[in-house]
Amino acid sequence: MKNTVLVSGGAGFIGSHVSVELIEAGFDIVVADNFSNCDLTCFKGVKKITGRDDIPLEVMDFCDASATKALFAKYPIDAVIHFAAFKAVGESVQEPVMYYKNNLLSFLNVLEAAQDKGGCNVLFSSSATVYGEPDKVPVTEETPRKPAASPYGNTKKMCEDILQDCVKASNGAIKGILLRYFNPIGAHPSALIGELPRGVPNNLVPFITQTAVGKRECLNIFGNDYPTPDGTCLRDYIDIVDLAKAHVCAVKRMLDGKMAQPCEVFNIGTGRPLSVLELVNAFEKVNGVKLNYRFAPRREGDVTAIWADPAKANEQMGWKATRSIEETLKAAWAWECHLKTTYGNE
Ligand code: UFG
Repeated sequence: MKNTVLVSGGAGFIGSHVSVELIEAGFDIVVADNFSNCDLTCFKGVKKITGRDDIPLEVMDFCDASATKALFAKYPIDAVIHFAAFKAVGESVQEPVMYYKNNLLSFLNVLEAAQDKGGCNVLFSSSATVYGEPDKVPVTEETPRKPAASPYGNTKKMCEDILQDCVKASNGAIKGILLRYFNPIGAHPSALIGELPRGVPNNLVPFITQTAVGKRECLNIFGNDYPTPDGTCLRDYIDIVDLAKAHVCAVKRMLDGKMAQPCEVFNIGTGRPLSVLELVNAFEKVNGVKLNYRFAPRREGDVTAIWADPAKANEQMGWKATRSIEETLKAAWAWECHLKTTYGNE
């Protein structure tokens, strides 16, 4: 019998790519989303890529405890991957109550519903933001977490702790995996799903593609006076399809009883640091487009350099990032061009 995976926030950027990989790996999935930060574009793309017109979609808010319980009662959920959360760092500084309420309550409701059902395998989508400005790079899972620089980052840390505590108290009924993502970028090679930021993008790659397509005038590179080889920040950019495949490995590990501990942590990155300028240059070169950019002051809250030591995920989960930065940036550009063809330059 097929296992069923609930994908909360499954219509968004990461959730839609994970949905495709889960289906292709033979899982049944249930997508649940409140569409607060996305539309139906990616869900439709998932159906098209997988040729599956029957994927269950539940339009609901995980902050609603009874709706969450009803969802767990309706489907035979073997594992849940929890993406449903707000994710804009700057907005979280302006609206901390909204962030804490949404991101904590939705996860608590998932855990309560899982507990009430007698247990579940829970995969939480965490972030390298929990490491703050690390004292040493690359970071391993043992690298100490730092105080969060934003309410958004703090919700990731708090949800990590909440899951650890729930697993501990559950006597084996709840198992957990925390995946700490580095910088997910790119799009599915079909160009049918990708990142769809609302308004002005906060993140680098959507800003690059929107500038290249003419939606934005100029990319600001935030800071060229960092203590790095070219003065711009270093990050670990991970292809979204590679990242999605890590979720399949993690879900299988939980379902196959392969976990070494009841709650595990994995870094999901490439181990390859790239500067902002290197990324911009690679984008121009691989796509044959000229990007209008200028150097601007540093952005508040940015760390100088962070990249993953992915050895634990490589060795214990059998997962490894495989895509080159060129492939990833080609896919990101193909997706932006697809959006232009479909919707014009709105
Ligand atoms: N950058 C620019 N110009 C832009 C946007 C970004 O120069 O217009 C630079 C940033 O200063 C940074 C790099 O590009 O040096 C990457 O910035 P992103 O905003 O794309 O990503 P961050 O590393 O800041 O943040 C990402 C996720 C967060 C997560 C964090 C964890 O977006 O959700 O990684 O490290 F918390």
